[in-house]
Amino acid sequence: MDLTEKINKIDIEEFQQDLIRWFEAEQRDLPWRKDSDPYKVWVSEIMLQQTRVDTVIPYYNRFLEKFPTIESFAEADEESVLKIWEGLGYYSRARNLHSAIKEVVATYGGKVPDQKEEILKLKGVGPYTAGAVLSIAYGKPEPAVDGNVMRVLSRILLITEDIAVPAARKTFEEGARTLMFEPNPSYFNQALMELGALVCTPTSPSCLLCPVQKHCSAFEKGVQDELPVKTRKKNTRHDKLAAIVLQNEKGEFLIRKRPAEGLLANLWEFPSLKMQPVLEPHETLQDFLMTEYSIDVEVAPVSFTTVDHVFTHLKWTIHAFHGKVAGARLEENERVRFVTEKEMNELAFPVSHQKIWQAHKIHVEYEKEKAKGRI
Ligand code: ADE
Repeated sequence: MDLTEKINKIDIEEFQQDLIRWFEAEQRDLPWRKDSDPYKVWVSEIMLQQTRVDTVIPYYNRFLEKFPTIESFAEADEESVLKIWEGLGYYSRARNLHSAIKEVVATYGGKVPDQKEEILKLKGVGPYTAGAVLSIAYGKPEPAVDGNVMRVLSRILLITEDIAVPAARKTFEEGARTLMFEPNPSYFNQALMELGALVCTPTSPSCLLCPVQKHCSAFEKGVQDELPVKTRKKNTRHDKLAAIVLQNEKGEFLIRKRPAEGLLANLWEFPSLKMQPVLEPHETLQDFLMTEYSIDVEVAPVSFTTVDHVFTHLKWTIHAFHGKVAGARLEENERVRFVTEKEMNELAFPVSHQKIWQAHKIHVEYEKEKAKGRI
């Protein structure tokens, strides 16, 4: 049975009514639902990609406090953009959003385009974000198909295409377009998202509470647990790293900026390198600091903390060591410098390095108490 035949089985009007009524009654009270300003909708939709609603809420609120208007965000410097995104992950989202917003201010006088071809040209705006902004902010009948919506539609329409294959999106968009509730595309798209979040969950969906159960082919056949079809991700790489919290005579800390491209681009971190299987990590760090930065350091032989962090295709295990500058001088520049704790608080660090910093502070407190004889 092809998609058209599957859709033809559904009473579309009744489906829309069941879905929209449920959304009107049950939707969560979320900060981005208070306002359909396209700038705010856009910010929320970018934050919500790959990130849970509960995590996004405080970030969204802080973001709009700091950048209440599209102009204020366009004028921000990259450092403060990364700082406000700190901990949210997938930092290229923030950098792309920033350059897209600058473009909107420069080219469109600060008005987010309401035409699909135009909005799609902006950095970081793909079919999902375009559909979400056009429907939620401008009421246009464009589908907004993300992972949640694919799961919902795969079950309702019994779509067995592999959602890990990018080309499958077309099928889901076609399905969403056919079911689209033209009088209120914003509610239609958000209702599908909300259904995916609250009822039609990845495991153990609550079919008995589902407002569109009677329209659902997967439920009818009892195969909701087998959908959507998704091929397993390839294995992730596991890197073992050694990092150093290095202090100079003034008590400042050495940090460096990550490369402008790639993982965690332009975030700050404690210097680190991949550990070599046979070599002692503290000696490797010592050699590295000398060759890379001409700093002679003493590194503690035992790490004071170990931090794990899982990215999409990569896992880090970082062993962190303490070090003190013993001699020589570093040529500081805009990517490598010694900073005070206060200065550090203004800069954006990956979560793994924030954890190293927290462990460092606990270690310092512990050593103080020990010195006082309290431990
Ligand atoms: N996930 C993606 N967009 C969303 C939205 N607008 N509301 C709730 N969850 C979402």
